[in-house]
Amino acid sequence: MELKLWTLFYFLLLVFGIPEVQSADSQWFIDVPSKIPALQGSCVIIPCVYTYPKTKKILNRWKGFWKRGNTIVSTNLPKFKLNSEFKRRTRILGSLRGGSCTMQLSSVRSTDVGPFYFRIEIPQHKSFTFSENTVTIDVLRTPEPPTMSVEVLGKVVASCTVSHSCPTSPPRFYWSHSGIKKTSSKRLNKWMWTTVSTLTFVPLSSDFNQALNCTVMYRGKKTAQSSVVLFS
Ligand SMILES: *[C@@H]1O[C@H](CO)[C@@H](O)[C@H](O)[C@H]1NC(C)=O
Repeated sequence: MELKLWTLFYFLLLVFGIPEVQSADSQWFIDVPSKIPALQGSCVIIPCVYTYPKTKKILNRWKGFWKRGNTIVSTNLPKFKLNSEFKRRTRILGSLRGGSCTMQLSSVRSTDVGPFYFRIEIPQHKSFTFSENTVTIDVLRTPEPPTMSVEVLGKVVASCTVSHSCPTSPPRFYWSHSGIKKTSSKRLNKWMWTTVSTLTFVPLSSDFNQALNCTVMYRGKKTAQSSVVLFS
């Protein structure tokens, strides 16, 4: 009789899944990229969303920690003393209460590769370390040269495009020719942005067969340059 009950129980488990008490435990979830490229000296924003098991308890405290090994890299706790390596360089941008654990790392160093992972503590509920979902930063020492295009139809309309990981301090553009400049940024994916500068001017005949240069200066002062030759 006892054995039959257990068999029935396992059968029900197979058909209807794990009972409520346990399924609540399986709701820890996080979405982070495993690898993000970032330019040394610039910043990087690690996009992060997470969920925790449902509860009927009233929750009003969330303590978030980004870690590398045993080192705490960033936290939302205002009084927490970060070690000098990360002090004043990191910030949790997301609302932990709202399920966002997005973190910004500034003045990226060659040693900032990680792997980084997130831990959440909800004192009135539960805590969890997402140690399996690590984020590595691919620290680039030199920026890629910008992509340029130019159109000459009475006016010269040139554009200079870069992608980067630091929307809070986008790169600055310097053109070798004067004209009307416009800059715009948009998001490429969860962790990369693109910024385009366009330069418009009416060319003189002396401008033709000359190089038009675009220099990009990133946060942290690294530069990259590209040029195009103006053909009539
Ligand atoms: C454009 O760049 C080239 C190569 O770096 C340089 O030789 C040239 O002087 C630059 N032209 C201007 C107008 O700045």
